[in-house]
Amino acid sequence: SKGGKLLILPGDHIGPEVVTEALKVLDIIEEVTGAKFERDFDLCGGASLDKHKDSVTEAVLKKSVEVDAVFFGSAGGPEWGTVQPNPESGLLRIRQKMQIFANLRPCNFASKSLIHRSPIKPEIISGVDFTIIRENCGGAYFGTKIEEEDYGCDPWEYHRPEIERVARVAGALATQHDPPLPVWSVDKANVLANSRVWRRITHEVFEREFPKVEVMDQLADSLAMLLITKPTAFNGIIVTDNTFGDILSDESGGLTGSLGLLPSASLAGPPAAPGTRPSALGRNSAGGVLGLYEPVHGSAPDISGKGLANPVAQVLSLAMMLRYSFNMHHEAEVVEKAVERVLDSKADGGLEVRTGDLGGKAGTKEMSEAIQGEVRRLLGA
Ligand code: NAD
Ligand code: IPM
Ligand code: MN
Repeated sequence: SKGGKLLILPGDHIGPEVVTEALKVLDIIEEVTGAKFERDFDLCGGASLDKHKDSVTEAVLKKSVEVDAVFFGSAGGPEWGTVQPNPESGLLRIRQKMQIFANLRPCNFASKSLIHRSPIKPEIISGVDFTIIRENCGGAYFGTKIEEEDYGCDPWEYHRPEIERVARVAGALATQHDPPLPVWSVDKANVLANSRVWRRITHEVFEREFPKVEVMDQLADSLAMLLITKPTAFNGIIVTDNTFGDILSDESGGLTGSLGLLPSASLAGPPAAPGTRPSALGRNSAGGVLGLYEPVHGSAPDISGKGLANPVAQVLSLAMMLRYSFNMHHEAEVVEKAVERVLDSKADGGLEVRTGDLGGKAGTKEMSEAIQGEVRRLLGA
Protein backbone atom coordinates (compact mmCIF):
# COMPACT_ATOMS: atom_id res chain seq x y z
CA SER A 1 0.00 0.00 0.00
CA LYS A 2 1.38 3.35 -1.07
CA GLY A 3 1.46 6.48 1.04
CA GLY A 4 2.27 7.18 4.68
CA LYS A 5 2.29 9.84 7.36
CA LEU A 6 2.78 13.55 6.70
CA LEU A 7 3.39 16.46 9.01
CA ILE A 8 2.33 19.63 7.21
CA LEU A 9 3.77 22.96 8.35
CA PRO A 10 2.46 25.72 6.05
CA GLY A 11 4.23 28.50 7.98
CA ASP A 12 3.78 32.18 7.16
CA HIS A 13 2.61 34.58 4.42
CA ILE A 14 2.54 32.79 1.04
CA GLY A 15 3.46 29.47 2.75
CA PRO A 16 -0.17 28.52 3.50
CA GLU A 17 -1.33 29.87 0.10
CA VAL A 18 0.94 27.58 -1.92
CA VAL A 19 0.81 24.59 0.46
CA THR A 20 -3.02 24.53 0.19
CA GLU A 21 -2.74 24.36 -3.59
CA ALA A 22 0.00 21.72 -3.65
CA LEU A 23 -2.06 19.49 -1.38
CA LYS A 24 -4.89 19.52 -3.93
CA VAL A 25 -2.45 17.77 -6.27
CA LEU A 26 -1.86 15.18 -3.54
CA ASP A 27 -5.66 14.74 -3.18
CA ILE A 28 -5.84 13.81 -6.86
CA ILE A 29 -2.99 11.34 -6.55
CA GLU A 30 -4.73 9.70 -3.59
CA GLU A 31 -8.02 9.56 -5.43
CA VAL A 32 -6.60 8.09 -8.64
CA THR A 33 -3.90 5.74 -7.30
CA GLY A 34 -5.47 4.65 -4.01
CA ALA A 35 -2.42 5.88 -2.05
CA LYS A 36 -3.26 7.21 1.42
CA PHE A 37 -1.49 10.10 3.11
CA GLU A 38 -2.33 10.72 6.75
CA ARG A 39 -2.06 14.49 7.23
CA ASP A 40 -1.28 16.27 10.47
CA PHE A 41 -1.26 20.08 10.22
CA ASP A 42 0.71 22.15 12.70
CA LEU A 43 2.52 25.45 13.19
CA CYS A 44 6.08 26.60 12.60
CA GLY A 45 7.62 30.05 12.29
CA GLY A 46 5.71 33.25 12.96
CA ALA A 47 2.44 31.35 13.22
CA SER A 48 3.89 29.29 16.07
CA LEU A 49 5.45 32.36 17.75
CA ASP A 50 2.05 34.08 17.80
CA LYS A 51 0.30 31.10 19.38
CA HIS A 52 2.99 29.48 21.54
CA LYS A 53 5.61 32.26 21.95
CA ASP A 54 8.14 29.94 20.35
CA SER A 55 9.07 29.35 16.69
CA VAL A 56 8.41 25.61 17.01
CA THR A 57 7.15 23.56 19.95
CA GLU A 58 8.67 20.40 21.41
CA ALA A 59 5.51 18.58 20.33
CA VAL A 60 6.05 19.54 16.68
CA LEU A 61 9.75 18.62 16.86
CA LYS A 62 8.78 15.23 18.25
CA LYS A 63 6.23 14.65 15.49
CA SER A 64 8.74 15.65 12.80
CA VAL A 65 10.73 12.46 13.38
CA GLU A 66 7.72 10.19 13.78
CA VAL A 67 6.26 10.84 10.33
CA ASP A 68 7.53 9.69 6.91
CA ALA A 69 7.93 13.23 5.60
CA VAL A 70 7.38 16.88 6.50
CA PHE A 71 5.79 19.18 3.93
CA PHE A 72 6.88 22.73 4.69
CA GLY A 73 5.79 26.11 3.28
CA SER A 74 7.91 29.03 4.43
CA ALA A 75 8.69 30.84 7.67
CA GLY A 76 9.33 34.50 8.36
CA GLY A 77 8.18 38.04 7.78
CA PRO A 78 9.02 41.62 8.74
CA GLU A 79 6.47 41.67 11.59
CA TRP A 80 8.56 39.23 13.63
CA GLY A 81 12.02 40.69 13.03
CA THR A 82 15.28 38.94 13.87
CA VAL A 83 15.29 38.91 17.68
CA GLN A 84 15.56 35.28 18.81
CA PRO A 85 13.58 33.13 18.63
CA ASN A 86 12.53 34.43 15.19
CA PRO A 87 10.35 32.43 12.75
CA GLU A 88 13.34 31.12 10.81
CA SER A 89 14.78 29.52 13.97
CA GLY A 90 11.82 27.13 13.96
CA LEU A 91 12.81 25.74 10.58
CA LEU A 92 16.45 25.44 11.66
CA ARG A 93 15.45 23.51 14.79
CA ILE A 94 13.38 21.10 12.70
CA ARG A 95 16.29 20.53 10.29
CA GLN A 96 18.54 19.76 13.26
CA LYS A 97 16.00 17.51 14.98
CA MET A 98 15.29 15.51 11.81
CA GLN A 99 19.01 15.33 10.88
CA ILE A 100 18.06 16.07 7.28
CA PHE A 101 21.65 16.82 6.41
CA ALA A 102 21.43 16.75 2.60
CA ASN A 103 19.42 19.55 1.02
CA LEU A 104 18.90 18.88 -2.70
CA ARG A 105 18.18 22.03 -4.71
CA PRO A 106 17.86 21.32 -8.44
CA CYS A 107 18.29 24.16 -10.94
CA ASN A 108 16.75 23.62 -14.37
CA PHE A 109 13.93 25.01 -16.47
CA ALA A 110 10.62 23.44 -15.52
CA SER A 111 9.63 24.31 -19.10
CA LYS A 112 11.84 25.04 -22.11
CA SER A 113 9.47 27.86 -23.05
CA LEU A 114 10.72 29.75 -19.98
CA ILE A 115 14.32 30.02 -21.19
CA HIS A 116 13.65 33.52 -22.52
CA ARG A 117 12.44 34.55 -19.01
CA SER A 118 16.00 34.21 -17.70
CA PRO A 119 18.02 37.42 -17.43
CA ILE A 120 20.88 35.39 -18.99
CA LYS A 121 21.13 35.12 -22.81
CA PRO A 122 19.33 31.98 -24.10
CA GLU A 123 22.45 30.57 -25.80
CA ILE A 124 24.25 30.68 -22.45
CA ILE A 125 21.51 29.44 -20.11
CA SER A 126 19.79 26.91 -22.38
CA GLY A 127 20.24 23.35 -21.08
CA VAL A 128 21.29 24.35 -17.56
CA ASP A 129 20.73 21.39 -15.23
CA PHE A 130 22.59 21.09 -11.97
CA THR A 131 21.64 20.06 -8.45
CA ILE A 132 23.10 21.77 -5.43
CA ILE A 133 23.48 19.45 -2.46
CA ARG A 134 23.69 21.81 0.46
CA GLU A 135 24.97 20.51 3.81
CA ASN A 136 21.97 21.31 5.98
CA CYS A 137 22.74 20.56 9.64
CA GLY A 138 26.18 22.07 10.27
CA GLY A 139 28.56 24.89 9.41
CA ALA A 140 27.94 28.46 10.51
CA TYR A 141 24.19 27.84 10.90
CA PHE A 142 24.59 25.59 13.93
CA GLY A 143 27.01 25.17 16.81
CA THR A 144 27.16 27.34 19.88
CA LYS A 145 26.46 30.92 18.95
CA ILE A 146 27.46 33.92 21.04
CA GLU A 147 25.42 37.08 20.78
CA GLU A 148 26.30 40.04 22.98
CA GLU A 149 25.79 43.78 22.74
CA ASP A 150 29.12 44.34 20.96
CA TYR A 151 30.09 40.85 19.85
CA GLY A 152 28.59 38.09 17.72
CA CYS A 153 30.03 34.68 16.85
CA ASP A 154 28.87 31.75 14.73
CA PRO A 155 31.55 29.06 14.82
CA TRP A 156 31.92 27.63 11.30
CA GLU A 157 33.06 24.07 11.83
CA TYR A 158 32.75 20.60 10.34
CA HIS A 159 33.60 17.19 11.76
CA ARG A 160 34.50 14.19 9.58
CA PRO A 161 31.13 12.35 9.85
CA GLU A 162 29.20 15.44 8.73
CA ILE A 163 31.33 15.74 5.61
CA GLU A 164 31.33 12.02 4.86
CA ARG A 165 27.58 11.63 5.00
CA VAL A 166 26.83 14.53 2.65
CA ALA A 167 29.61 13.44 0.26
CA ARG A 168 27.94 10.00 0.16
CA VAL A 169 24.63 11.54 -0.87
CA ALA A 170 26.44 13.35 -3.70
CA GLY A 171 28.08 10.04 -4.71
CA ALA A 172 24.79 8.14 -4.53
CA LEU A 173 23.01 10.69 -6.74
CA ALA A 174 25.90 10.88 -9.20
CA THR A 175 26.00 7.10 -9.63
CA GLN A 176 22.26 6.88 -10.27
CA HIS A 177 23.23 8.04 -13.79
CA ASP A 178 25.15 6.14 -16.43
CA PRO A 179 27.78 7.46 -16.93
CA PRO A 180 27.87 9.00 -13.44
CA LEU A 181 27.26 12.73 -13.21
CA PRO A 182 30.31 14.89 -12.53
CA VAL A 183 30.56 16.37 -9.02
CA TRP A 184 31.93 19.76 -7.99
CA SER A 185 32.91 20.11 -4.35
CA VAL A 186 32.55 23.79 -3.56
CA ASP A 187 34.50 25.40 -0.73
CA LYS A 188 36.89 28.20 0.26
CA ALA A 189 39.87 25.95 0.97
CA ASN A 190 42.18 28.83 0.05
CA VAL A 191 41.06 30.63 3.22
CA LEU A 192 39.00 28.47 5.60
CA ALA A 193 40.37 25.60 7.70
CA ASN A 194 36.99 23.84 7.76
CA SER A 195 36.98 23.99 3.93
CA ARG A 196 40.39 22.33 3.73
CA VAL A 197 39.11 19.47 5.89
CA TRP A 198 35.91 19.36 3.77
CA ARG A 199 37.95 19.09 0.56
CA ARG A 200 40.30 16.37 1.83
CA ILE A 201 37.57 14.19 3.32
CA THR A 202 35.29 14.60 0.28
CA HIS A 203 38.07 13.26 -1.96
CA GLU A 204 38.72 10.38 0.44
CA VAL A 205 35.05 9.35 0.28
CA PHE A 206 34.93 9.48 -3.51
CA GLU A 207 38.23 7.63 -4.01
CA ARG A 208 37.14 4.88 -1.65
CA GLU A 209 33.41 4.57 -2.37
CA PHE A 210 32.72 6.15 -5.77
CA PRO A 211 35.95 5.71 -7.76
CA LYS A 212 34.17 6.13 -11.11
CA VAL A 213 32.85 9.59 -10.27
CA GLU A 214 34.84 12.60 -11.37
CA VAL A 215 35.12 15.08 -8.45
CA MET A 216 36.42 18.57 -9.05
CA ASP A 217 37.16 21.34 -6.56
CA GLN A 218 35.70 24.74 -7.14
CA LEU A 219 36.04 27.84 -4.99
CA ALA A 220 32.66 29.22 -3.95
CA ASP A 221 33.30 32.83 -4.93
CA SER A 222 34.42 31.98 -8.44
CA LEU A 223 31.51 29.55 -8.82
CA ALA A 224 29.12 32.42 -8.07
CA MET A 225 30.58 34.21 -11.09
CA LEU A 226 30.89 31.18 -13.38
CA LEU A 227 27.24 30.21 -12.81
CA ILE A 228 26.35 33.47 -14.57
CA THR A 229 28.89 33.27 -17.40
CA LYS A 230 29.01 29.48 -18.05
CA PRO A 231 26.13 27.90 -16.12
CA THR A 232 25.95 24.71 -18.19
CA ALA A 233 29.61 23.94 -17.42
CA PHE A 234 28.34 22.76 -14.01
CA ASN A 235 25.64 20.40 -15.23
CA GLY A 236 25.84 17.63 -12.66
CA ILE A 237 26.11 17.86 -8.89
CA ILE A 238 27.44 20.67 -6.73
CA VAL A 239 28.07 19.58 -3.14
CA THR A 240 28.75 22.35 -0.68
CA ASP A 241 28.61 23.83 2.80
CA ASN A 242 25.41 25.18 4.38
CA THR A 243 26.10 28.91 3.87
CA PHE A 244 27.52 28.62 0.35
CA GLY A 245 24.60 26.36 -0.62
CA ASP A 246 22.06 28.84 0.71
CA ILE A 247 23.49 31.69 -1.32
CA LEU A 248 24.16 29.71 -4.50
CA SER A 249 20.64 28.26 -4.53
CA ASP A 250 19.06 31.72 -4.57
CA GLU A 251 21.41 32.44 -7.47
CA SER A 252 19.67 29.50 -9.20
CA GLY A 253 16.47 31.53 -8.89
CA GLY A 254 18.20 34.39 -10.68
CA LEU A 255 19.39 32.03 -13.43
CA THR A 256 15.95 30.57 -14.11
CA GLY A 257 14.23 33.93 -13.77
CA SER A 258 12.10 33.17 -10.70
CA LEU A 259 12.48 31.67 -7.26
CA GLY A 260 8.85 30.62 -7.65
CA LEU A 261 10.03 27.69 -9.77
CA LEU A 262 12.57 26.05 -7.48
CA PRO A 263 11.80 23.15 -5.12
CA SER A 264 13.97 21.45 -2.55
CA ALA A 265 14.25 18.19 -0.63
CA SER A 266 16.15 17.84 2.66
CA LEU A 267 16.98 14.21 3.31
CA ALA A 268 18.13 12.22 6.35
CA GLY A 269 20.02 9.70 4.18
CA PRO A 270 20.99 8.84 0.61
CA PRO A 271 18.01 8.58 -1.77
CA ALA A 272 17.29 5.24 -3.40
CA ALA A 273 17.38 4.80 -7.18
CA PRO A 274 14.06 3.86 -8.82
CA GLY A 275 13.26 0.23 -8.17
CA THR A 276 15.59 -0.05 -5.18
CA ARG A 277 15.21 0.30 -1.41
CA PRO A 278 17.06 3.00 0.53
CA SER A 279 19.94 2.09 2.86
CA ALA A 280 19.36 2.06 6.62
CA LEU A 281 20.46 5.67 7.17
CA GLY A 282 17.39 7.90 7.42
CA ARG A 283 15.00 5.26 6.11
CA ASN A 284 11.32 5.82 6.90
CA SER A 285 8.51 3.27 7.13
CA ALA A 286 7.05 4.23 3.73
CA GLY A 287 9.78 2.71 1.54
CA GLY A 288 11.74 5.94 1.26
CA VAL A 289 13.92 8.37 3.20
CA LEU A 290 12.77 10.73 5.95
CA GLY A 291 12.70 14.18 4.41
CA LEU A 292 11.41 17.72 4.61
CA TYR A 293 10.20 19.34 1.40
CA GLU A 294 10.02 23.09 0.91
CA PRO A 295 10.56 25.63 -1.86
CA VAL A 296 13.90 27.46 -2.09
CA HIS A 297 11.98 30.73 -1.81
CA GLY A 298 10.77 32.34 1.39
CA SER A 299 7.43 33.68 2.58
CA ALA A 300 7.37 36.56 0.03
CA PRO A 301 5.59 39.06 2.32
CA ASP A 302 5.62 41.59 -0.54
CA ILE A 303 3.01 39.57 -2.48
CA SER A 304 1.25 37.59 0.26
CA GLY A 305 -2.51 37.68 0.83
CA LYS A 306 -3.22 38.62 -2.79
CA GLY A 307 -3.40 35.23 -4.45
CA LEU A 308 -0.43 36.09 -6.66
CA ALA A 309 2.22 33.59 -5.52
CA ASN A 310 3.54 31.04 -7.98
CA PRO A 311 2.65 27.59 -6.58
CA VAL A 312 5.13 25.72 -8.82
CA ALA A 313 8.05 25.52 -6.36
CA GLN A 314 5.73 24.07 -3.71
CA VAL A 315 4.15 21.63 -6.18
CA LEU A 316 7.56 20.49 -7.43
CA SER A 317 8.61 20.02 -3.78
CA LEU A 318 5.62 17.68 -3.49
CA ALA A 319 6.96 15.74 -6.50
CA MET A 320 10.34 15.42 -4.76
CA MET A 321 8.53 14.15 -1.66
CA LEU A 322 6.71 11.47 -3.65
CA ARG A 323 10.03 10.38 -5.19
CA TYR A 324 12.35 10.36 -2.17
CA SER A 325 10.10 9.73 0.83
CA PHE A 326 7.45 7.50 -0.74
CA ASN A 327 9.25 5.79 -3.62
CA MET A 328 6.45 6.96 -5.97
CA HIS A 329 8.66 7.73 -8.96
CA HIS A 330 5.93 7.52 -11.57
CA GLU A 331 3.63 9.93 -9.72
CA ALA A 332 6.56 12.32 -9.16
CA GLU A 333 7.22 12.38 -12.90
CA VAL A 334 3.54 12.93 -13.63
CA VAL A 335 3.50 16.01 -11.39
CA GLU A 336 6.66 17.36 -13.05
CA LYS A 337 5.25 16.72 -16.52
CA ALA A 338 1.98 18.45 -15.56
CA VAL A 339 3.88 21.54 -14.38
CA GLU A 340 5.89 21.56 -17.60
CA ARG A 341 2.75 21.41 -19.77
CA VAL A 342 1.09 24.23 -17.84
CA LEU A 343 4.16 26.45 -18.16
CA ASP A 344 4.87 25.60 -21.81
CA SER A 345 3.83 28.30 -24.28
CA LYS A 346 0.88 27.70 -26.58
CA ALA A 347 3.37 27.69 -29.47
CA ASP A 348 5.13 24.76 -27.76
CA GLY A 349 1.84 22.92 -27.28
CA GLY A 350 1.30 23.90 -23.65
CA LEU A 351 -1.40 25.72 -21.70
CA GLU A 352 0.73 28.81 -20.98
CA VAL A 353 -0.84 29.52 -17.62
CA ARG A 354 1.68 31.64 -15.70
CA THR A 355 1.80 33.83 -12.62
CA GLY A 356 3.16 37.38 -12.53
CA ASP A 357 6.73 36.40 -11.62
CA LEU A 358 6.80 34.62 -15.01
CA GLY A 359 5.30 37.54 -16.89
CA GLY A 360 1.79 36.02 -16.90
CA LYS A 361 -1.56 37.16 -15.53
CA ALA A 362 -2.71 34.01 -13.72
CA GLY A 363 -3.21 33.91 -9.96
CA THR A 364 -2.13 31.14 -7.58
CA LYS A 365 -5.47 29.30 -7.85
CA GLU A 366 -5.73 29.50 -11.62
CA MET A 367 -2.24 28.11 -12.08
CA SER A 368 -2.87 25.42 -9.49
CA GLU A 369 -6.13 24.38 -11.16
CA ALA A 370 -4.34 24.07 -14.49
CA ILE A 371 -1.72 21.81 -12.86
CA GLN A 372 -4.41 19.73 -11.16
CA GLY A 373 -6.18 19.25 -14.50
CA GLU A 374 -2.98 18.06 -16.16
CA VAL A 375 -2.17 15.70 -13.28
CA ARG A 376 -5.61 14.14 -13.63
CA ARG A 377 -5.22 13.81 -17.37
CA LEU A 378 -1.72 12.30 -17.18
CA LEU A 379 -2.81 9.81 -14.52
CA GLY A 380 -5.51 8.73 -16.94
CA ALA A 381 -8.36 9.68 -14.59
P1 NAD B 1 11.65 35.50 -0.62
O1 NAD B 1 12.20 34.29 -1.25
O2 NAD B 1 10.50 35.32 0.28
O3 NAD B 1 11.26 36.55 -1.76
C1 NAD B 1 12.22 37.08 -2.67
C2 NAD B 1 11.47 37.67 -3.90
O4 NAD B 1 10.97 36.57 -4.68
C3 NAD B 1 10.28 38.52 -3.53
O5 NAD B 1 10.16 39.57 -4.43
C4 NAD B 1 9.09 37.57 -3.69
O6 NAD B 1 7.88 38.19 -4.00
C5 NAD B 1 9.56 36.67 -4.82
N1 NAD B 1 8.99 35.32 -4.68
C6 NAD B 1 9.38 34.38 -3.80
N2 NAD B 1 8.61 33.30 -3.92
C7 NAD B 1 7.72 33.56 -4.89
C8 NAD B 1 6.64 32.83 -5.48
N3 NAD B 1 6.33 31.59 -5.07
N4 NAD B 1 5.92 33.41 -6.46
C9 NAD B 1 6.22 34.64 -6.89
N5 NAD B 1 7.23 35.39 -6.38
C10 NAD B 1 7.95 34.85 -5.39
O7 NAD B 1 12.86 36.20 0.15
P2 NAD B 1 12.85 37.40 1.22
O8 NAD B 1 11.85 38.42 0.82
O9 NAD B 1 14.25 37.78 1.39
O10 NAD B 1 12.38 36.70 2.56
C11 NAD B 1 11.09 36.82 3.13
C12 NAD B 1 11.04 36.04 4.42
O11 NAD B 1 11.11 34.64 4.13
C13 NAD B 1 12.21 36.32 5.38
O12 NAD B 1 11.67 36.34 6.69
C14 NAD B 1 13.13 35.14 5.19
O13 NAD B 1 13.91 34.85 6.31
C15 NAD B 1 12.14 34.04 4.92
N6 NAD B 1 12.65 32.88 4.20
C16 NAD B 1 12.14 31.67 4.54
C17 NAD B 1 12.52 30.54 3.86
C18 NAD B 1 11.95 29.24 4.26
O14 NAD B 1 11.07 29.18 5.09
N7 NAD B 1 12.42 28.14 3.71
C19 NAD B 1 13.40 30.66 2.78
C20 NAD B 1 13.91 31.92 2.44
C21 NAD B 1 13.51 33.03 3.14
C1 IPM C 1 16.46 28.72 2.95
C2 IPM C 1 16.23 29.89 3.87
C3 IPM C 1 16.61 29.50 5.28
C4 IPM C 1 18.12 29.26 5.32
C5 IPM C 1 16.20 30.45 6.41
C6 IPM C 1 14.76 30.84 6.33
C7 IPM C 1 16.47 29.81 7.74
O1 IPM C 1 16.92 31.02 3.41
O2 IPM C 1 15.88 27.66 3.19
O3 IPM C 1 17.19 28.86 1.97
O4 IPM C 1 18.90 30.21 5.42
O5 IPM C 1 18.50 28.10 5.25
MN1 MN D 1 17.89 30.70 1.49
